[in-house]
Amino acid sequence: MDNNGSFYQQAQRLQDAAYDVRNPKIREARLIIEQTIKEELRTKPREEIKQLHSWNIGNPPYFGIQPPEEINHLLQQIQIQYGYSPAQGLEQAIESIFAYHQSQKFINLKRENIFGTDGVSEGIRLVTTATLNPGDEILLPTPNYPLWRLFVQQAGAIPVHYQCDEKSCWYPDLADIIRKISGRTKAILLINPNNPTGAIYSLEILQQIISIAREHRLIIFADEVYNEVLYGQAKHIPIASISDEVLIFTLNGLSKNRLMPGIRSGWIAISGPTHQARDLINGINLLVNARLCPNIYGQLAIPLILPRADYLRPLLVPGGRFFDQIEAASQAINQCEELSCVKADATMYLYVKINSPNHIANDEKFILDLLNAERVQLVQGTGFDDKNLPRHIRIVCLAPVAELTEGIGRIIRFLQNYKN
Ligand SMILES: Cc1ncc(COP(=O)(O)O)c(C=O)c1O
Repeated sequence: MDNNGSFYQQAQRLQDAAYDVRNPKIREARLIIEQTIKEELRTKPREEIKQLHSWNIGNPPYFGIQPPEEINHLLQQIQIQYGYSPAQGLEQAIESIFAYHQSQKFINLKRENIFGTDGVSEGIRLVTTATLNPGDEILLPTPNYPLWRLFVQQAGAIPVHYQCDEKSCWYPDLADIIRKISGRTKAILLINPNNPTGAIYSLEILQQIISIAREHRLIIFADEVYNEVLYGQAKHIPIASISDEVLIFTLNGLSKNRLMPGIRSGWIAISGPTHQARDLINGINLLVNARLCPNIYGQLAIPLILPRADYLRPLLVPGGRFFDQIEAASQAINQCEELSCVKADATMYLYVKINSPNHIANDEKFILDLLNAERVQLVQGTGFDDKNLPRHIRIVCLAPVAELTEGIGRIIRFLQNYKN
């Protein structure tokens, strides 16, 4: 037996690995709270019990935001197939993804360079595994959706974080990117629209990133899983639509844009000078063949669901749940002294600054204390690889307005006397 009392040990490369959107200590605390609430319900009416707000994952159906009934009917018509599909994905799914990206004006995308995946998450694992050698460096944003860092580390490569600037709409700090490029830098990640900041990048920023990538021969990974979750008049520009001079891996899927995270349907689209990337694309082909095929239900859904942008839009304009919720949360946050945030142009998140920098040394402890005291579950800035002061927290804005503002009230009250 080792010190942990456990004979069977996880691989060493997992010892320091973390994915704090689902932090194990927080999960444990939440289970205890759920049990306590069950017990309280035996003796008290529901209205007297402080309810748990689990606001750590961008999972719209969990909050009752579902595709409409008509879409359920559409999916029920799927004739499920039991065999493996081609490793790349079903032909009709690839065709539908190709048409989608054509409509977005992707430059130099070919059908053979589209690969179906089990959600964007599998896409991230595939592209990092196929691209990165041990010791390679990759530029990741701060703050960052942490699955990218996790898979980069699993590939033995080195995450090097560039800063996104809260004072400039959370845009990437280009000078910081240039400073951090070394002879070992192989790629740069853009999460656009961004989780957790809700920022969308301008054409100028994207052009400058292309020019940096061209000069230093960097591959661009473009995680665009929120490209349609845009508020009001906000516009998203896919980076693959502005240049074919740089190799671009765009990752997307049905999880956020079509409110279907559970069906695990995603893809990778490789564009740009793919004729210079045959070896790398062979590597992707090896990995997709080795995993046999993406899940068949997710693939069958793509031709039916991907063209249906219509049912998301009403949620994103005034009167729609996404819009009203993020608006109400922004207002509640920016009206108090304890918190502030840049208004999100996209996504379902607010990345919120805690305006008491000296009081929170350990933001993971803060999140745990907040959960235990106030039953509000969030993710701390360090969970997004953001070690900067002042501390930040991410609020998932998917609960109905009344719940959201009530829960934000709890956070504000808790902060008034909090120190760690
Ligand atoms: C930026 C980003 N990329 C990828 C994912 C994973 O997406 P999927 O559910 O399609 O695996 C998420 C999930 O929240 C995300 O926020």
